[in-house]
Amino acid sequence: MSGALRTDRLRLGVNIDHVATIRNARGGAHPDPLRAAHMAAAAGADGITAHLREDRRHMTDADIAALVAEIALPLNLEMAATEEMLGIALRNKPHAACIVPERRAERTTEGGLNATGQFKTLAPFVARLSDAGIRVSLFIAPDAAQIEAAARLGAPVVELHTGPYAHSDGSTDELARLATAAKLAVSMGLEVHAGHGLTFANVAPVAALPELAELNIGHFLIGEAVFSGLANAIHAMRARMDAAR
Ligand code: PXP
Repeated sequence: MSGALRTDRLRLGVNIDHVATIRNARGGAHPDPLRAAHMAAAAGADGITAHLREDRRHMTDADIAALVAEIALPLNLEMAATEEMLGIALRNKPHAACIVPERRAERTTEGGLNATGQFKTLAPFVARLSDAGIRVSLFIAPDAAQIEAAARLGAPVVELHTGPYAHSDGSTDELARLATAAKLAVSMGLEVHAGHGLTFANVAPVAALPELAELNIGHFLIGEAVFSGLANAIHAMRARMDAAR
């Protein structure tokens, strides 16, 4: 029951994976990611993002089915390019699927997709998701070759990896890479999203890039929710994004 995509502002997609991480630390049903999704929607999130990992360390198949069935916001399913995940995406039909690289040992998604090197592997995934009406985005480094490969693959959206920017304490070189990449991607007709490692402290310069249509933010918001509540954390992030535009 995914709703329509807002186009009148820089969208905030709230990634709720780590609500499930906390739930899974004890088993059982609390805290419920679906409740977090409803709360995020009420607090002004423009979309919900959830990553179904191969090892199900946070979101589960049942979480994804419940999100698709019950939230009114567009759902962005982050997934690895595997047959298993493709089948789940095709069954659940989220609004969007963001293809991410996945290595079992990593703590979080560490690098962008290698869209150039894995062109032939990725092509059927982009095609089959797109044929099913699912909007495909590719999570890539802010790198010209990757953007060109994403465009050739026919993905309508790229999500630029802001991890190196965030981990470099907002270095101007990393910001410049994001800005250049966003311009190139838009010039090639792609919609540009960004995410990973964004916080109250580093979001503004990224939000100020006029080419960006959406930010996806998770870990910081869920952590901040411990102190101020999820709605307050989302409002405060929204305010920083709006002030940067
Ligand atoms: N975008 C993508 C593609 C991701 O894999 C992640 C992490 O799951 C995020 C955005 C959000 O990153 P963070 O949790 O650091 O805000």
